[in-house]
Amino acid sequence: MKIAIIGIGTVGTGVLELLNQEKNNIENRIGESIEVSWICDLKDTLKIESNLKFTKNYKEILNDNSVETIIELIGGNTTAFEIAKETLKSGKNLITANKHLLATKGIEIFEIAKKHNVKIFFEAAVAGGTPALSSIYEGTFSGGIKTITGILNGTSNYILNKMEEGSDYDSALKLAQEAGYAELDPTFDVKGIDTAHKISLLSYLVWGKLIDFKKINIKGIDKITKKDIEFAKNSGKRFKLIGEAKKINNQIIINVEPRLIEKNDQLYNVNDVYNGIKSYGIHLGETFFYGKGAGALPTATAIIGDLYKIKNSNAWY
Ligand code: HSE
Repeated sequence: MKIAIIGIGTVGTGVLELLNQEKNNIENRIGESIEVSWICDLKDTLKIESNLKFTKNYKEILNDNSVETIIELIGGNTTAFEIAKETLKSGKNLITANKHLLATKGIEIFEIAKKHNVKIFFEAAVAGGTPALSSIYEGTFSGGIKTITGILNGTSNYILNKMEEGSDYDSALKLAQEAGYAELDPTFDVKGIDTAHKISLLSYLVWGKLIDFKKINIKGIDKITKKDIEFAKNSGKRFKLIGEAKKINNQIIINVEPRLIEKNDQLYNVNDVYNGIKSYGIHLGETFFYGKGAGALPTATAIIGDLYKIKNSNAWY
């Protein structure tokens, strides 16, 4: 399988590293060799192995008929939107970690993919390396899912954790940025927007409908003070940034807000960059997914899983 990677930041570098380290394992499981035919990035300073073909112009990749799948990792919903549309229109599959793009432009993107009979997978867009999306889409659809609730932003969770340990907000955010967890624009993390992107994609996979992003009520952790954290501690609870989607009377309602979580809730013990997703189904009962929500190699693991799905699974639309 010939692939190309557009965007060599934290996650792109992780994908190259994982393909290298786990080459035999990955190729055995997927059943063919994986060749990175192109990498595309705008940075001049990029240090890449000399055997990889490099371009700053993604259109060169679109013109290469031998490339079957493009992995888009640049983020945002402007240039990435163009890349996604052109990739699918050129008959290539798309793998993306871009929750912002799919939560805001997904309807159009899924339509184009359907029309051109190509696949798009996005396991890495939600909960990093935790394979919650595959499990939810392929495993729980008959479970009568009514609610899905999660800690979906590693950066916010990390900041809240550090504040509980005595750090102030700004230095905790800086640490999260240094660890490579935060978005390019960290206001997406701390204002709840990234969580809203992710819960909206989870809701799409559960109920088959992408709701208008503007209709989501969003509150972040940026107004949480040390005093709030102390108050939570004294009442035996913890503040967590929660994204929740519910289906009530055939209507999907999505909310993002910091909530006080009680000790007996599984989400209480989700620490640092970890994410946790609970779902409740009338037939299935409760399920809980837990794992690293950000970082190079965990997120790359989800992307490699998508390469497997390109060969073996039906598309998620
Ligand atoms: N900024 C995101 C987070 C990265 O902190 O969860 C993974 O989507």
